[in-house]
Amino acid sequence: MALIIEKDEGLVSRLRVALLDWYDRHRRDLPWRRGARDPYRVWLSEIMLQQTTTAHAAPYYSRFLELWPTVGDLAAAPEEQIMAEWAGLGYYSRARNLIKCARAVVADHGGRFPDSEEGLLGLPGLGAYTAAAVAAIAFDKPANVIDGNIERVMARLYAIETPLPDAKPLIRRVAAQWVSADRAGDWPQALMDLSAAVCRPKAPQCLLCPLREGCRGFSSGKPEKYPVKAAKTAKPRRYGIAFLIVGDGAFIAERRADKGLLGGMLGVPHTPWRDTPWTAAEADQPLPGFRPAGTYEHVFTHFALEQAVWKREATAAEIADLLRRHNDWQLVPFAEQKALPTVFRKALKFV
Ligand code: ADE
Repeated sequence: MALIIEKDEGLVSRLRVALLDWYDRHRRDLPWRRGARDPYRVWLSEIMLQQTTTAHAAPYYSRFLELWPTVGDLAAAPEEQIMAEWAGLGYYSRARNLIKCARAVVADHGGRFPDSEEGLLGLPGLGAYTAAAVAAIAFDKPANVIDGNIERVMARLYAIETPLPDAKPLIRRVAAQWVSADRAGDWPQALMDLSAAVCRPKAPQCLLCPLREGCRGFSSGKPEKYPVKAAKTAKPRRYGIAFLIVGDGAFIAERRADKGLLGGMLGVPHTPWRDTPWTAAEADQPLPGFRPAGTYEHVFTHFALEQAVWKREATAAEIADLLRRHNDWQLVPFAEQKALPTVFRKALKFV
């Protein structure tokens, strides 16, 4: 049976003020919160933060702004340079959408982001979360911003017993009760900061929480129980061999096909990634004489990759011959390995 949670107007407005007061005292000093609210900066930070933590995103954010201070600058930048600067943030389809979105803002909206959630949803790469976050944070619109962390706060506040992901519609409904035109942009950020500092996944600090009085998770005595999660299925495992071909301070990289995982990025040549480990006899080596150098793991959203690294020093003549035979291969100096996504930079550690 669906749980129906009535809004208690008095409690909600009192606790809303309590959390916003807490935010005024404890808000994190994050790079995208400094200065005037600029929709480009808010959008850029939100796209980056979908991949990773605030600490990991911060240097990328600063570097992007240094290179491309406005959406027009980003729209005019070469795609390869943007992809290379994005390397390390993961989920490269997001980077491609980032470029498409910047170009759409310039081409279709005169270089200005639409100021409504609906308008923002029409841009490439903006889903419900990002459109709501930009509408709220950049334009101070009362939008119902819900990410995984806000979901946790709401699931605890209402002690929602339905497991995720089935609980999502209910969480959306209860979260909407807290959305208001009053400090509309601070509200989701206050929830985010609360979720990071107090309503943490493990060991929540309920005694410090401004919402404690109304929190059913707290009064249940087991706040960590929420959100209830559906039983996890293990990620499938895949196997590959990466071929590290090394010569004179550089290695051979391949430009990956545009479509598919890590599309358009530079990578280390490798066997297909399949469900069973490779034997030496099966792997199609680009040159004879590779030696195994080790194995590493990289976890993607939908599978875990166990990749062996086979290494081979190559002469200048062998490299020239390989580059002639593979026109998507190129020689990359080790000093430029930053352009590769993490899954391939891990292979380079075996040099
Ligand atoms: N995570 C996603 N967006 C954020 C923001 N604006 N502030 C802090 N953490 C975030």
